[in-house]
Amino acid sequence: MRCTCSISVAAALVVGVSAQTFRRLGACPTLGCVFPPDQADFLAGQYFDIRLEVHQPTNGSEFIGLPLDERFTFTVAKKGGAAKAATEYFKLEEPKVEKWNFTYYEDLFARDAKKPSLVNVAAKAYRRVALYEPGEYVATLSYNNGSKTEATWLVRDLAEERKAKNIIFFIGDGMTTNMITAARLIGHKSINGKYQTTMAMDKFPVLGHQMTHSIDSFITDSANSAAALNTGHKSTVNCLNVYADSSPNAFDDPKVETIAEMFHRLTGGHIGIVSTAYIADATPAALVAHTRARSQYGAIVDTFLNGVQNYTWTKVPIDVIFGGGAEQFYPPSLGGVTYQGKDYYAEFAKQSYQIIQNRTALLAAKATEKTLGIFTTSNMAKWLDRNVYRQNLNQSLSPTGDKKPALDQPGLKEMTLKAIDILQARSGEQGYLLMSEAASIDKMMHALDYDRALGELLELDDTIKATIAHLNSTNTLKETLILVTADHGHGFDVMGSVDTQYLAAQNVDRKKRDAVGTYEQSGLSQYINTGNLSYTDSNFPSNWDPRYTLFQGLMADPDRRENWSVHKSGPRTPAKAANGTNDYYANPSDGAGGILLNGTLPVENDQGVHSLTDVPVFAMGPCQEFFGGVYNSPDIFFGMAKCFGLARGSP
Ligand SMILES: *[C@@H]1O[C@H](CO)[C@@H](O)[C@H](O)[C@H]1NC(C)=O
Ligand SMILES: *[C@@H]1O[C@H](CO)[C@@H](O)[C@H](O)[C@H]1NC(C)=O
Ligand SMILES: *[C@@H]1O[C@H](CO)[C@@H](O)[C@H](O)[C@H]1NC(C)=O
Ligand SMILES: *[C@@H]1O[C@H](CO)[C@@H](O)[C@H](O)[C@H]1NC(C)=O
Ligand SMILES: *[C@@H]1O[C@H](CO)[C@@H](O)[C@H](O)[C@H]1NC(C)=O
Ligand SMILES: *[C@@H]1O[C@H](CO)[C@@H](O)[C@H](O)[C@H]1NC(C)=O
Ligand SMILES: *[C@@H]1O[C@H](CO)[C@@H](O)[C@H](O)[C@H]1NC(C)=O
Ligand SMILES: *[C@@H]1O[C@H](CO)[C@@H](O)[C@H](O)[C@H]1NC(C)=O
Ligand SMILES: *[C@@H]1O[C@H](CO)[C@@H](O)[C@H](O)[C@H]1NC(C)=O
Ligand SMILES: *[C@@H]1O[C@H](CO)[C@@H](O)[C@H](O)[C@H]1NC(C)=O
Ligand SMILES: *[C@@H]1O[C@H](CO)[C@@H](O)[C@H](O)[C@H]1NC(C)=O
Ligand SMILES: [Zn+2]
Repeated sequence: MRCTCSISVAAALVVGVSAQTFRRLGACPTLGCVFPPDQADFLAGQYFDIRLEVHQPTNGSEFIGLPLDERFTFTVAKKGGAAKAATEYFKLEEPKVEKWNFTYYEDLFARDAKKPSLVNVAAKAYRRVALYEPGEYVATLSYNNGSKTEATWLVRDLAEERKAKNIIFFIGDGMTTNMITAARLIGHKSINGKYQTTMAMDKFPVLGHQMTHSIDSFITDSANSAAALNTGHKSTVNCLNVYADSSPNAFDDPKVETIAEMFHRLTGGHIGIVSTAYIADATPAALVAHTRARSQYGAIVDTFLNGVQNYTWTKVPIDVIFGGGAEQFYPPSLGGVTYQGKDYYAEFAKQSYQIIQNRTALLAAKATEKTLGIFTTSNMAKWLDRNVYRQNLNQSLSPTGDKKPALDQPGLKEMTLKAIDILQARSGEQGYLLMSEAASIDKMMHALDYDRALGELLELDDTIKATIAHLNSTNTLKETLILVTADHGHGFDVMGSVDTQYLAAQNVDRKKRDAVGTYEQSGLSQYINTGNLSYTDSNFPSNWDPRYTLFQGLMADPDRRENWSVHKSGPRTPAKAANGTNDYYANPSDGAGGILLNGTLPVENDQGVHSLTDVPVFAMGPCQEFFGGVYNSPDIFFGMAKCFGLARGSP
């Protein structure tokens, strides 16, 4: 649910989604909250906000009955040193006390009984501070006349030497090792158990594994995980580069400076963002956005152009922005949903961006200009639809808002190579950071459209291969760190093959299961033309619709009908609810001839969900050695920051 696949699903995000584990406020087990919380790591000189909250629950089992004590105090001490008031430590005025209240459910029984607990809050925020001296710190909140919350913070070692001129950061959203294995199987030819070609990712010299969990739940979404990758700070589902506080305002939560912001502020480095999602989606937004609510799409687009609103914060001019999501650009008169109702094509043009809206214009665009390229309304078309089932592009998704189809869309490869050209031309000696996201690996896995997801993954790999060749041919490969990773996984795997003809010929579900071949009956991949040697360099399947397909699927699903065949008429809709309800059943018009499978997720889910698995990290270039082994997602930020030499021992 949280990775939105369409505008209509996106709208559902604002409505609260229930959870099995309810909590008053994540990362705050007591009634006194300190954000950044205990165990936070910082880069020396990284800007962050501090948020303090004192809670007084007035309903439910946590009733305390104490008057809310406004006289809470907050101190910071270098470990072993004297504690100083935060105002003195950071040379700030004491902030005003803010007050609000919120409600939450203690558990599912309270939810069913509609008995929320009310919490009164007194809070303060210290904005845009930094710690410069490496080592441990203790931040102490004293409240309610004798209670204390202590947070241990670590400022990591200084590393001011720059080792890479550029970083290209590829994110396969939702991509797991299992998916890479499956993509290799359908895109690469094998003879007697030996692959004749392998993935570009397979050739990277360094492989690591990162843990993706959230600060307050073990499954993450793409906002929260991108925040960890971009800031080195774990966060909460739906948060972009902030810690989640309990206030109703989605923009006042305590911010943490991102790698893009520090890179630009400290070195003048240039930034590029490429995604196959709508460009306000979480992964592209996470370079510079700061909000509790990833669904604030209009404000996120404004941040790309104007920086964070209403707070003093690092502003980053972005040289290149390529993706979908035209509905956040064309004005409401054309059906757009934009920040303050403005026309964001016009707003970008006013700040001298060249604006492009199709592949032809992308290929012809001048590399010397700041460039905004928005190629469709909503998410970009999938590789399979752009290349094999092109009739599916016939939808009213034109990026201009004129309701015509967006037929001339580029792929991730063309967008990424052009972005590199622009960044190379504009950044000169200062270097660049480019984030390029294959977003629909995730979006299509959510939709249980395994073929489209694997097509997106093969396109990512093809993009990586072309990027390496392009950097090599421009003599910039050696000075560029290339990272490829994911933000989280899905519980996907391949367990065998399916004889789709036999499956379709059976009338009884229990008999249909005989179509599944496991172990020796799984056979060999039928997706590539094994007799066709001229094909070996293309690295995409030559046949997406073979008789013997992959027996593949996820661990967590809605009800659905599986026939394990490619969906020729466009991305899959596995489940449908009766009009006006949230009660999802298998979509009667999906998966003809297949087996009806009952879901395992709560019935309000129409899609699959993310999973816990660690995800791979491939590294090549300067600092590649920082990324081997098993580590936590924030370490990716620290590795990139160290490679760019961004830690600062003094202001
Ligand atoms: C919660 O806060 C709102 C807005 O400040 C206020 O109107 C309301 O009375 C408060 N509710 C309670 C139960 O204190
Ligand atoms: C919460 O407490 C207030 C005041 O004691 C009471 O009026 C209200 O009914 C309670 N709400 C619930 C949901 O228990
Ligand atoms: C605070 O705690 C002290 C010591 O326990 C007690 O003497 C004092 O009355 C308390 N003050 C308030 C306002 O509760
Ligand atoms: C910034 O403040 C203005 C004025 O209060 C408000 O209209 C706007 O929505 C705020 N923007 C954000 C992103 O919070
Ligand atoms: C592509 O965009 C250009 C303007 O940049 C426009 O002139 C051209 O008609 C567009 N092509 C298509 C196929 O939409
Ligand atoms: C595109 O869709 C429209 C409306 O559904 C239809 O009238 C038209 O024939 C389709 N065109 C193509 C080329 O499939
Ligand atoms: C880079 O290009 C050179 C010269 O064409 C070639 O020998 C080398 O293998 C290339 N390196 C990579 C990593 O592609
Ligand atoms: C080999 O595959 C390519 C790409 O699919 C195709 O164009 C070509 O006709 C095939 N050749 C033979 C001999 O099957
Ligand atoms: C769903 O219900 C609404 C309101 O009753 C109706 O306008 C709409 O056409 C219905 N949609 C479908 C797909 O039945
Ligand atoms: C399984 O799913 C079907 C159709 O979605 C539904 O009719 C049936 O009630 C479900 N069975 C169970 C045990 O949930
Ligand atoms: C399997 O289901 C898909 C999606 O509904 C459909 O396009 C395809 O034709 C079906 N395959 C078979 C063999 O019926
Ligand atoms: Zn997702």
